[in-house]
Amino acid sequence: MQEKLKEIKEAALCELDKVSDVKSLNEVRVKYLGKMGLLTGLLRGMREVAAEERPKVGALVNEVREAIENALKAKEQAFAEASLNAKLKSEWVDVTLPGLSPVTGAANIIEKTVEEVEEVFMSMGYDVVDGPEVEEDYYNFELMNLPKGHPARDAQDTFYIEDEKILLRSHTSPVQARVMLAAGGKKPIRMICPGKTYRRDTDDATHSHQFNQIEGLLIDKNISLANLKATFDELFSKFFGEDCIVRFRPSYYQFTEPSVEVDVACFSCKGKGCPLCKNSGWLTICGAGMVHPNVLRNCGYDPKVWSGFAFGFGAERVTMLKYGISDLRKIYQIDLRETKVFDRRED
Ligand code: PHE
Repeated sequence: MQEKLKEIKEAALCELDKVSDVKSLNEVRVKYLGKMGLLTGLLRGMREVAAEERPKVGALVNEVREAIENALKAKEQAFAEASLNAKLKSEWVDVTLPGLSPVTGAANIIEKTVEEVEEVFMSMGYDVVDGPEVEEDYYNFELMNLPKGHPARDAQDTFYIEDEKILLRSHTSPVQARVMLAAGGKKPIRMICPGKTYRRDTDDATHSHQFNQIEGLLIDKNISLANLKATFDELFSKFFGEDCIVRFRPSYYQFTEPSVEVDVACFSCKGKGCPLCKNSGWLTICGAGMVHPNVLRNCGYDPKVWSGFAFGFGAERVTMLKYGISDLRKIYQIDLRETKVFDRRED
């Protein structure tokens, strides 16, 4: 009996030593310790062992079982460890690698221009106001001293929506009329209005049927062109740079008298003449002038008491000049590679 126990122990340990996977490990367990296992079978034979031998044999049986169980456990642990290590190795992730950053857009460059201009004007006490893009002929033309049939309307041929009464505004100037009427002819006004405008233009590198204007209106007492000049000096030195030189040139608009064209000295050639300024040395930026007495009257302000200036310029034009963009259409194409260049976020 004792011999047999020793044989079983050795055979079991030897087999366990060779076992290389969990499946064969379980087979060994069943072979020796299972219900029909070799050690279990041997225990049934205990009855035949002499009574005085029994404690000794019993102890040996326990020792053999323990030895086999310990060896099984050790193997089991080794297999579990090996499979965990294999898993860790295959699933290893280098957390220090840089991640994939999502593609993000950036605000359109026109929005940036509008925001910059708004900041300059707000610092001078101006309000930023809004007006309808679908406008009445009455505000767009009539109140602005452009009665029906007036030839100056042709310069802003636009999109009519209903019986020549409703149209897509051809400029932001109708907002002047709306703001003056709302103020009831009694209060001074300082406002700018950035917004979309529409003209029946053929789209090319410098024209688009839809573009953004920034309108400005100041109404107070004793206002002169000198105030307008100082305002532009402030705006363009902030927007284009300290050394920006501004000049006025006589012009004509129905809603201002006198009217001026506002130029800045060409920043590419500093006034010498180059392709950007078409050899003139100057870049035209803006239309402006003193608010026409008829417009003041139409909108409830007494021209004997009140005076003011107004201006309107294209946001696309100043943006193209500032950033050296030669084709207007690029601004609308929303190519992320380009919008990113003008991204405000510093990353
Ligand atoms: N509304 C004019 C235009 O679109 C610009 C302008 C505005 C001129 C205000 C003078 C005063 O051309």
